[in-house]
Amino acid sequence: MTQAKATAISCANIAFIKYWGRRDHALRLPLNDSISMNLDGATTITTVAFDPALPADEVSIAGAPAPQRAAHRVSEHLDRVRMLAGIAEPARVASRNSFPMGAGIASSASAFAALSAAASAAAGLTLDERELTILARLGSGSACRSIPAGFVEWHAADTSEESYAESIAPPEHWDLRDLVAVVQTEHKEVGSTRGQELVDASPFAGARLAAAGRALPVIRAAILARDFTAFGQETEQEAIRMHAVAMTSQPSLLYWSPETVRVLRAVRAWRENGLEAYCTIDAGANVHVLCLGADAARVAAALSTLPGVREVIANRPGPGTRLAAEHLF
Ligand code: DP6
Repeated sequence: MTQAKATAISCANIAFIKYWGRRDHALRLPLNDSISMNLDGATTITTVAFDPALPADEVSIAGAPAPQRAAHRVSEHLDRVRMLAGIAEPARVASRNSFPMGAGIASSASAFAALSAAASAAAGLTLDERELTILARLGSGSACRSIPAGFVEWHAADTSEESYAESIAPPEHWDLRDLVAVVQTEHKEVGSTRGQELVDASPFAGARLAAAGRALPVIRAAILARDFTAFGQETEQEAIRMHAVAMTSQPSLLYWSPETVRVLRAVRAWRENGLEAYCTIDAGANVHVLCLGADAARVAAALSTLPGVREVIANRPGPGTRLAAEHLF
């Protein structure tokens, strides 16, 4: 083993075309291609050290022992790394987020991206970026998009080797901003992992899949051309479609709170009045408000005056996952 301890930092990401539904649940192979942007203001830092003296894996999040389910999912992911590296030692894992967990900023994405990079480095593996995205995908689907830098596309495929993520444009390509209007910080009731399994029960699943397939090349081209209007319109529509599927699954998943709808309506009104911004929403109540850098201060100020908005987390396009020299322990 070349290195027993390693630390990695990953950004969360926000999807413009959503990963919502899988063709293979065990391998986390998605139904459709998706596109996202890394969020430079929402990061996870994770240190992993393999240690033969430990009786079992030890996982802490934000300085406290991880809840059992989270710790179990981390251990399962460490098993994948141990298998690849041909080692058996338990590991100590410590992780910290810069943002609230479980409320619509995809904490599992940055968490499993950082865990994959730190654990594979600590185990002495040398994976290239594509291999690392595949490893991260097995831990949490959206995590594969937090490995490459900037604007990222994740390819849907029938085999694990072909379902990887790659950058389509670097962070400095476009000064797009994602202002997260935080209206809820509690853990959501039904996590995205479960939501992904319920998609097929919605009568709208097929229609949304077809629409997402048509929208993806439009959004990719709009990002590459920096066409904010085309990008924003398609992105907001896709978010509404994903939630239409969630709402019509069985059981019905209603992630929105009254404050979610208030932000959506406010952003639409601002747009009518010439302040151009668009919304997208993940599996939670918080609203990601997208705008251009030139309007970011105005949009952030307007968001923070809305009742129920507790905080606004401002993000620019973020870098890919990287190893850090300083460790958490
Ligand atoms: C709504 O990646 O959390 O954020 O693979 O079960 O870990 P698992 O699902 P997860 O789902 C993310 C869903 C989403 C949309 C997206 O990020 O594309």
